[in-house]
Amino acid sequence: MSVRAISSPNIALVKYWGNRHTALRLPAADSLSITLSTPTVTLTVDHADSLKIRSYTMGEERPVTGKHLERFAAHIAHAKTYLATLGIPDAVPSSLSIDIDSHIPPSVGLASSAAVFSCLAQAIRQLIAPSIALTDAQTSVIARLGSGSACRSVMGGFVAMEAGNGDAIDAAFARQIADAEHWMLYDFVIIPTHEEKKVGSTEGHAEAQSSPLFAERVTAIHTRRQQECINAIMHKDFEKLRAVSEEDMWDMHRVMQSQSHPLNYLSDETHRIVRELEALRTAQHMPVLYTMDAGPTVHAICTEEAVPLVQEFAEAQQECTLFLAHAGSGSRPA
Ligand code: DP6
Repeated sequence: MSVRAISSPNIALVKYWGNRHTALRLPAADSLSITLSTPTVTLTVDHADSLKIRSYTMGEERPVTGKHLERFAAHIAHAKTYLATLGIPDAVPSSLSIDIDSHIPPSVGLASSAAVFSCLAQAIRQLIAPSIALTDAQTSVIARLGSGSACRSVMGGFVAMEAGNGDAIDAAFARQIADAEHWMLYDFVIIPTHEEKKVGSTEGHAEAQSSPLFAERVTAIHTRRQQECINAIMHKDFEKLRAVSEEDMWDMHRVMQSQSHPLNYLSDETHRIVRELEALRTAQHMPVLYTMDAGPTVHAICTEEAVPLVQEFAEAQQECTLFLAHAGSGSRPA
């Protein structure tokens, strides 16, 4: 019997960049994000004789072949290894049929892999429910094995990925800091280009250690930033959240740009949007922060009071695709 699940991306405020174990996607440091309400991806998953994936993005079929197909096969194999540690190695068959219906533009720094693998983890949870009732944290381990940041989209609201210690497959998992109702934040996702990026996050993470700034970044998150971000969320202190998240975001991009193969995911358009947003918030005393992941997309995140002004700003961006999201609920049955 097939199962259906739905999920959405998350936007990180303390960024995940670099692993201590590449194949298992065990992160070098903690991270923290807001799970978004939209755009969504829906998966229909069933048992099959061989791995079959059909993927539609905005209604258009995108064949899943080569390294993309291998990534799903590797994910299922890792999920089975993890489930073996829970005593149910055969709960998931080696092969699945997976139908993906995505509303997320691919490879523009809006984490489509986070939505897809958190959704697949949720579908696997539903598929194996007759054998075991997985917890959210256990489901987040399965999501992480497909895409590190997917770990955080298994839960709603404000979610930390705790890096943990050691190389056990379940050493890193997600923990909900607060649900979406705790503090309703809005995210205007401003996408300046639909050109697909050349180097994906997976390849980028693998070289993070080559940056001379990486060790210092890990220490800053470990000793200070992650906790500052959690405190800002718990106290709904927007100015503190803005300061720590922008500091961390620029720090991640400096690491990316100083890796042995430098990665510059930000475009001139990104910098222009950011400059104009900074000028506007200074002039209007507007509670808005901006952040960018591995792509040129700008996330302008604000409280309810700033929505009208930020919306006006976002809608004035020529030739950009725009999404309005807010803190949402994470992966769940569809
Ligand atoms: C910059 O989770 O996309 O968005 O595990 O290879 O899928 P993979 O990497 P991914 O890395 C996300 C990096 C980031 C920051 C973040 O979301 O925390």
